[in-house]
Amino acid sequence: LVIFDTTLRDGEQAPGIALSPDDKVAIATQLARLKVDVIEAGFAASSPGDHTSVKRIATEVHGPVIASLARTVPTDIDQAADALRNADRARIHVFTSTSPIHMEQMLRKTPAEVLDSIREGVTRARGYVDDVEFSPQDATRSDPDFVVEACRIAVAAGATTINIPDTVGYAIPSDFVALMERVYHDVRGGNTDVIISTHCHDDLGLAVANSLSAIHAGARQIEGAINGIGERAGNTSTEEIIMAIKTRQDYFNVEIQADTTEIFETSRLVSSLTGYPIQFNKAVVGRNAFAHESGIHQHGVLRNRETYEIMDPSDVGQQSQLVLGKHSGRAAFAAALAEMGVTLDEPAFGNAFERFKELADRKGEIGETGLRAGALAMQASIV
Ligand code: KIV
Ligand code: ZN
Repeated sequence: LVIFDTTLRDGEQAPGIALSPDDKVAIATQLARLKVDVIEAGFAASSPGDHTSVKRIATEVHGPVIASLARTVPTDIDQAADALRNADRARIHVFTSTSPIHMEQMLRKTPAEVLDSIREGVTRARGYVDDVEFSPQDATRSDPDFVVEACRIAVAAGATTINIPDTVGYAIPSDFVALMERVYHDVRGGNTDVIISTHCHDDLGLAVANSLSAIHAGARQIEGAINGIGERAGNTSTEEIIMAIKTRQDYFNVEIQADTTEIFETSRLVSSLTGYPIQFNKAVVGRNAFAHESGIHQHGVLRNRETYEIMDPSDVGQQSQLVLGKHSGRAAFAAALAEMGVTLDEPAFGNAFERFKELADRKGEIGETGLRAGALAMQASIV
């Protein structure tokens, strides 16, 4: 399964993010360490800064394929090709819209004109590189027959990846699967040179579910952004896809080459350079993704981590944490004291635990400092 990361293109389109070329090179370098297969470095024609960023990444970052987005317009494609000139492996990602509302209101083109622009755009891109991706924007609100026709024209003109975007996050897994199956059978058919891809947005919170659902429909590329950043509610989260595939290998049965141990570092870098915080309970990379507070859970995890963890936190560069709070039990309290080198026998332990519970009820989480102060006071009172 090809992991196509668009943090630097669609991710950067999130409101308020503007990454400098240096920031983008730093993130692309980290994405190469994470071993994603394709980095969409930007939209070269969209600004001089983006052109510079794509060019620098194409020149300085090695390993993944480097892609630039381009509309079907000739100048976009020429700019993308120019920015990608130094890449070891370059991809031009050509897109136009296929839904009635986009064609009428944004492109102001007839369906026939849109089909012509796809033929011309993809052909022009193939004049520069062998690796061309085509996306029918707003595919999930388009007539499926028209999507198939548009994609067939793109393949005939030389596109090697057909990407189906759920641009406005409108799809539901079952209807997305139906569309992907149609594209797989009617566009790809037996042509093994063509890869079918997904690109989902999270307006209904379904981007990751929709993307994963397409694997059984034949999709072999998933597009996403680190921390799920992107337009409006964001894109499919790259790290969630990687960990879902790895954790449920038994179910998906597809291979990925990502180095999962780089996930946490990548997530933190993207968060700090974009200024977008990561929600505490975010899957895989959130502060609480491997934290346990309730007594029953802590007791289980102390016996065997797998009682409540389906991923090994070290696989993503994280660690398990037992957070001491009002829901915690005696086992975690004792383990925390032991880790600090404090041993209390009964009845001192029982008294300390009672006082800890009273404090936690008022304060929420009790950090190591509070615990240490309490334990020392307890020890002093025994002596
Ligand atoms: O969401 C979308 O449709 C896109 C395309 C440009 C692929 O980002
Ligand atoms: Zn998008």
